[in-house]
Amino acid sequence: MKLRNRGYTGALTDAVSPRETENRRLARRMAAEGMVLLRNRGGVLPIPKGRKIALYGAGAQVTVKGGTGSGDVNSRDSISVRQGLEEAGYQLTSIGWLDEFEQIYHDAREHWRKKIFDSVNAPGVNGNFFYAYAMNPFIIPCGSPLDTKAACADGADIAVYVLSRNAGEAVDRREEPGDYYLTEEELALLRQISKAYRDIVLVLNTGGPVDLTFTDEIPNLSAILLMGQAGQEGGNALADLIAGDVVPSGKLTDSWAFRYQDYPSAEYFGSRWQDGWKAEYREDIYVGYRYFDTFEKPVRYGFGFGLSYTRFELVAGTISANGRMISVDVQVKNIGSQYPGKEVVQLYVSCPQEQLSKEFRRLCCFGKTDLLQPGQSQRLNLSFDAASMASFYEERGVWALQAGQYGIWIGNSLESAALAGTVVIGQPIQLSQCDHICPQQETIPLLRPDPDRMMARQQIWQAQSAKMPVCKLDAGAFVAETVDYTPVGADPGDPAWQLVSKLNDDQLLALSTGRMKAQTGELGNAGWTVPGAAAETENLLACSPWNIPSIVLADGPAGLRLKNHYRVVDGQLEVGTVQDSLENGFFSSDEPKQGTSYYQYCTAIPVGTLLAQSWNLPLVEEIGKMIGGEMLEFEISLWLAPGMNIHRNPLCGRNFEYYSEDPLVSGAFAAAITRGVQSMPGCGTTIKHLACNNQEEKRKGSDSILSERALREIYLKGFEIAVKTAQPMAIMTSYNMVNGIHAANSYDLCTKVARDEWGFAGLIMTDWTTTTTSTAGECTAAGCLAAGNDLVMPGKPEDHESIRTALADGTLSRLQLLRCIRNTVRISQLSNQVEDQKCYRSLYPNLPVYMECRADL
Ligand code: BGC
Repeated sequence: MKLRNRGYTGALTDAVSPRETENRRLARRMAAEGMVLLRNRGGVLPIPKGRKIALYGAGAQVTVKGGTGSGDVNSRDSISVRQGLEEAGYQLTSIGWLDEFEQIYHDAREHWRKKIFDSVNAPGVNGNFFYAYAMNPFIIPCGSPLDTKAACADGADIAVYVLSRNAGEAVDRREEPGDYYLTEEELALLRQISKAYRDIVLVLNTGGPVDLTFTDEIPNLSAILLMGQAGQEGGNALADLIAGDVVPSGKLTDSWAFRYQDYPSAEYFGSRWQDGWKAEYREDIYVGYRYFDTFEKPVRYGFGFGLSYTRFELVAGTISANGRMISVDVQVKNIGSQYPGKEVVQLYVSCPQEQLSKEFRRLCCFGKTDLLQPGQSQRLNLSFDAASMASFYEERGVWALQAGQYGIWIGNSLESAALAGTVVIGQPIQLSQCDHICPQQETIPLLRPDPDRMMARQQIWQAQSAKMPVCKLDAGAFVAETVDYTPVGADPGDPAWQLVSKLNDDQLLALSTGRMKAQTGELGNAGWTVPGAAAETENLLACSPWNIPSIVLADGPAGLRLKNHYRVVDGQLEVGTVQDSLENGFFSSDEPKQGTSYYQYCTAIPVGTLLAQSWNLPLVEEIGKMIGGEMLEFEISLWLAPGMNIHRNPLCGRNFEYYSEDPLVSGAFAAAITRGVQSMPGCGTTIKHLACNNQEEKRKGSDSILSERALREIYLKGFEIAVKTAQPMAIMTSYNMVNGIHAANSYDLCTKVARDEWGFAGLIMTDWTTTTTSTAGECTAAGCLAAGNDLVMPGKPEDHESIRTALADGTLSRLQLLRCIRNTVRISQLSNQVEDQKCYRSLYPNLPVYMECRADL
């Protein structure tokens, strides 16, 4: 085996490389595809190029490209909305306001910088710079009030107002002015703007929902465009939509409620319930649209909603079944006369309510058309595995399809979805029998819909379906699966096993954690050879003949998170500290200009939610391939992404990193990006955070208390889809507990579910410094390995102690340890640290298809 000859990564020049130019083009395409048009009264958008636009709002001048913390990317630059609109040829009439804002912003940032340094030694922060930074998020200033007289005379009749919010790991968002609500200053400015201009276009440069009640009060707020946090090409992509060069085709992957209190988890979320220590998932499976649709609660903008500049007609054909796969053809026609566009077709299923109460509808398949010219049609064939319609019958521990009628709804949003026919299942079908996992140690009240109302609604659609297509599913196409939970024994036929079984205890221990630094446990900057990487595993290169290279890991999910500049001084690489790796070095001290400079410019792509809002799986796969290309360039083996936790509540501080409130959307996009990354030799993804990491408050140790059914149907489902259909190289466990056991120490999650039930074949690692928990409820390194969590990251001496002690007292067996190290070593040998590597994807050519959309013109 030939190992890569490691040199310094990056380029010796600061010049823009052809790869950068090409990748930002793709990032721009991606960004435009995921923005969602929410309102467009009187067709105020698009705005012809060359027109005058009055541009205001914090995000106009300094556009937020993504979230903070490990989810940030140190890109070369980031195009603001102002730059994008100017570049597109608009005449901006508010330059004075924007320039003034630049100064206000600069002063606020300096003030904030000082505040972070001052708070490093505050109680609870204990000298940890990352926490000082994360716990004190930057509050974006509003900007000056309007000079109304000048504004009225500036010749523009349209104003664009960009509202920005930021968020990041370790803290949740706040249901307060400045975050979920607008501040008085912002509202006052908007009111002034509304008086000075004919129309306002509101651009939401936010990572998730904000309260939009104010949009009802401003009569000329004609358009609302959810820009999201769109990566470094955000400003250009927005301009593409405003100009109509790209026609909006994004759709929401979350429900935007009228009020925060409308969300079923509102009261029980984060610090507002039991101080954040106990997260009681009382809404059970009724998360997001599953709640609103079942409980008939109106929302402001529903799941799957998004407007276009054109209109489409959808005609569903007959429903057919081939084995387990159910298919529907949908004819989509652009019935507008002016603009081309793409449409997203969504297929929802109503499952029988008799034996177990279920959500009214769930998404089971989706697909997107190509760009259709006015008058043009395309036939989409949507097909999905009937297993998507199954429910988990908790008492019996089975996944099953109840006998009865299943309603198939098709539309371009949940709200518009119309009944298209039914699937009939003649007898119950058991798909698999499972062991119980993560038993609840405390009971909590669970939300249930009124069964009479559910039956009445079911009867309505059943009556409606009388003359519609019916498809009978053949129960014979299903073979009930039996899961084998027997612990895996030694595997002498496996080369990785042969290797690890010859290692001594010290070597095994070294490989059980990341390669440690003197300053251990740093979040996001524990790499050795690639500055800004999150960490590396230990290598045994010095101990010939082992040839075990280290795996280099870098964060995501909004691109590759590295330092974009570092130096080599007297042959010594300066990895720097965590403060150098944050926000493009904003917190770095002025370095002396010596040594040789290296540059690592990675592309900042849109945040996870925006990627999913594109509903375009092939495009996201292309993005994955692009990331894989950058991983090869910077010698990164594992990308610590995608993040794929469920958006349980809009205030979760990391929702922007994740895809959706829906598990199918989450799983399908995680699988798509994984397929892309893993099509590059030796590159892999790390899907994270398994599981129920749905709040940042007390993230190390808050207890997510939920039913096994909700755990399996909602919170694990996306991970299951990603593992079964894409085999990511790695999984990262979460910081929190699940029903009283730390996820990182959970044998049920790491072994029974991920490996035994889903067939996961890669490496499982902890989140960073998980074993330093801040609560009662122990999470130990030995406990991780015993659970089948192979690698404790980034590692500290106490972790080795914990493992050594457990080996000595028999609470961890050598077999358990070997199994974990084998998984790590196997991935290191399949990684791009080894020359002439294959694509990991090619090792798994026959993965099942969960859903598919084929298009013909
Ligand atoms: C985050 C992870 C991240 C890790 C390494 C942690 O704080 O929760 O998502 O991958 O740091 O930077």
